[in-house]
Amino acid sequence: MTFSNDSRWQSFREAMPVTRKWAYFDHAAVAPLPGVTAQAIQSWCDQAAQEGDVVWLDWERAIEATRTAGAQLIGATTDEIALVANTTHGINLVAEGLDWKSGDNMVVLGNEFPSNLYPWLHQESKGVEIRVIPVDGVEPDFNRIAEALDSRTRLLSMSWVSYKTGWRIDPKAVARMAHDAGALFFLDAIQGMGVFPLDVRDADIDFLAADGHKWMLGPEGAGLFYVKKELLDQLHPVGIGWNSVAGRTNFDKTDLTFRESAARYEGGSQNMPGMIGLGASLQFLLNQGAGPQQSAVGDRVLEVTDAICEALTKAGAHIICSRQGDERSGIVPFQVPGKLPQALRAAGQKIGVNFSVRGDFARISAHAYNNQADLDRLLETLDAVD
Ligand SMILES: Cc1ncc(COP(=O)(O)O)c(C=O)c1O
Repeated sequence: MTFSNDSRWQSFREAMPVTRKWAYFDHAAVAPLPGVTAQAIQSWCDQAAQEGDVVWLDWERAIEATRTAGAQLIGATTDEIALVANTTHGINLVAEGLDWKSGDNMVVLGNEFPSNLYPWLHQESKGVEIRVIPVDGVEPDFNRIAEALDSRTRLLSMSWVSYKTGWRIDPKAVARMAHDAGALFFLDAIQGMGVFPLDVRDADIDFLAADGHKWMLGPEGAGLFYVKKELLDQLHPVGIGWNSVAGRTNFDKTDLTFRESAARYEGGSQNMPGMIGLGASLQFLLNQGAGPQQSAVGDRVLEVTDAICEALTKAGAHIICSRQGDERSGIVPFQVPGKLPQALRAAGQKIGVNFSVRGDFARISAHAYNNQADLDRLLETLDAVD
């Protein structure tokens, strides 16, 4: 199988300066920025250097556009989106903000990224039982998850796409499973958001967090947190400050009335260049066909990734993830018999191919702009290791 090279994806590719040097397969780690995003951040730097806060209101308008674009991408309303520092920040807003009672429990998978484990484990000191469900192999055991949910389960937290196995869950089905047991559902969306379609209303997601620096093609340290409107008053705000309150610009009057929106979780000053950059990346992806109902970007990522898997398999690699239907994602861990993943990575770096190693596996994560020439270079990497 080869993948189509139509003009839409060719222009996406031309908008990605990284392609001039690298065959870049590392979007599950840290994404390169689109040119428009780099320009948006550079203009902020120029303005900040030349004008300081004279243009602050323009920056504020720009980060409100980021909030709007983030909401649009997942079918939320702008008052359900908080601009946060990273995924970890969003997870902690929920872990620290729920009114846990001693004897409550929550459920999480054992192969989650540490950020989706530590904030929950940190609640053990409040008497909360953290039920960590081991994952043997690639597919989570949904029966075991269902069995772990009981009348004292307050929350189920899962990644949309596993950083380790590439397994993509159906957020709607998992949210239903949690709700049927009377629990809330948290989605760590960082490995899917920007690419795959998700309508948080339709899927009935309670909380979601994602930093922008992977599939959303944003800079590191600028992320989004979604909280279902009906839950705003259930989630005790932590880390509050001037920016959390309704009268936030009246510094002379102390009135701890929270903003009527998820912005109450924002606390203090924003990461202006990061959030302006994230907004440019989100708008770029929306223009390329990403959206809550369907996503041409997601379809393309699957097309590209399927072709890569087929080619790697033909070259003797073992693909360690599902390539079935909606279980697929852009993340592919693989091994080549007799070739160490670190040696493969080092060989790739020498010829301009970038991917990661996670555990015993090389891990590639392609985006919609990768093309046949990138794939050819990836295959050359395999040949370069004895
Ligand atoms: C599933 C998942 N959650 C969270 C993170 C990172 O979180 P943060 O945005 O806080 O750095 C990663 C990074 O690899 C991840 O794969």
